[in-house]
Amino acid sequence: MAIALLVGRNEQDKKRFPHFTQKFAQLLTTLHPDLDLRIYPDLGDYNEIDFAIVWRHPLGVLAQLPNLKCIASLGAGVDHILADINLPTEVPIVRIVDPAMSTEITQYVVATVLYRLKRFDLWADNQQQKIWRSTSQFNFLDKTVGILGLGFLGGHAAQTLHSLGIKVIGWSQSPKKLTGITHFTGAAELNSFLSKSDVLVCLLPLTTETTEILNAKNFARLPRCAYLINLGRGDHLVEADLLAALDSDQLSGACLDVFREEPLPPDHPFWAHPHIRVTPHIASVTNPNTVMSQIIDNYQRAIAGEPLLNCIDPKRGY
Ligand code: NDP
Ligand code: OXD
Repeated sequence: MAIALLVGRNEQDKKRFPHFTQKFAQLLTTLHPDLDLRIYPDLGDYNEIDFAIVWRHPLGVLAQLPNLKCIASLGAGVDHILADINLPTEVPIVRIVDPAMSTEITQYVVATVLYRLKRFDLWADNQQQKIWRSTSQFNFLDKTVGILGLGFLGGHAAQTLHSLGIKVIGWSQSPKKLTGITHFTGAAELNSFLSKSDVLVCLLPLTTETTEILNAKNFARLPRCAYLINLGRGDHLVEADLLAALDSDQLSGACLDVFREEPLPPDHPFWAHPHIRVTPHIASVTNPNTVMSQIIDNYQRAIAGEPLLNCIDPKRGY
């Protein structure tokens, strides 16, 4: 019985993730010295691997593990797993559901929304020019934050924003009842949701339905000068449509934490755009200390043939 840790898909990943892999492996072997942990590419006998812990694993490898009982994502998202077209389809996939992660995401959302709604960007510009000008043009209370994806992370962010007196609406696949949050369901209610979202926060998983949902057509449905915050995945966004929407003032700005290509290439136009804030996929980073117990719990369940926690539905894509 052995656990495989597979982190990193390409040369870029090899530079980005070794520190995380090391930290995670060190903690796991300290807390559970009895477990047989194998780190890719040193997996030993593939027949002995029962459980795979993965983040952007090398494509095709999981299909070569004949006794695999569970694939565990090291993150909340599983798009990086489902991107493997040679995935062993009968093996269940679990993901991270960690309150520490929802706290971190929520802090990012609150910081960005308040920076925007309280117009700290404007005050910073004015300060540069020593301009003392208050304006009645912004009113905290008449702006609405719309959250695409009211799941574990989006739901927490929505409720926290609401508790700060901010108008919040949310959109998801199935109906929800969250106190104080006006809810919109499915494709039929998307336009109505967008038309009310002065600040649009994307906390959707990346699936075939949500890929490129942040596009020109949907930007045009937002109130004029809306603000975009994308924390889902880079592939949710059509980058050229964002630049065009900023040029035309349909969008007034964007704060982006995730990108089609990560790290964002040095020559990418987003870096220097005056109305785009770039953060390096740090809205919430998996913390080995807070997620280890749920991963080990799932390992023990997989070995015992018991129901797993936080399973995803591969057909739905999340
Ligand atoms: P959940 O699965 O808990 O929530 C997903 C939400 O999206 C649900 O409300 C779901 O609806 C909704 N949804 C999915 N597909 C559709 C659709 N086609 N139409 C309408 N609504 C849809 O995921 P989490 O909240 O845990 O995580 C969301 C994503 O956040 C992750 O997949 C990941 O990509 C991203 N993330 C980013 C991080 C970062 O640091 N930037 C960190 C962690 C995660 P319903 O509730 O009806 O199923
Ligand atoms: C995740 C992420 O999915 O960090 O957990 O993006």
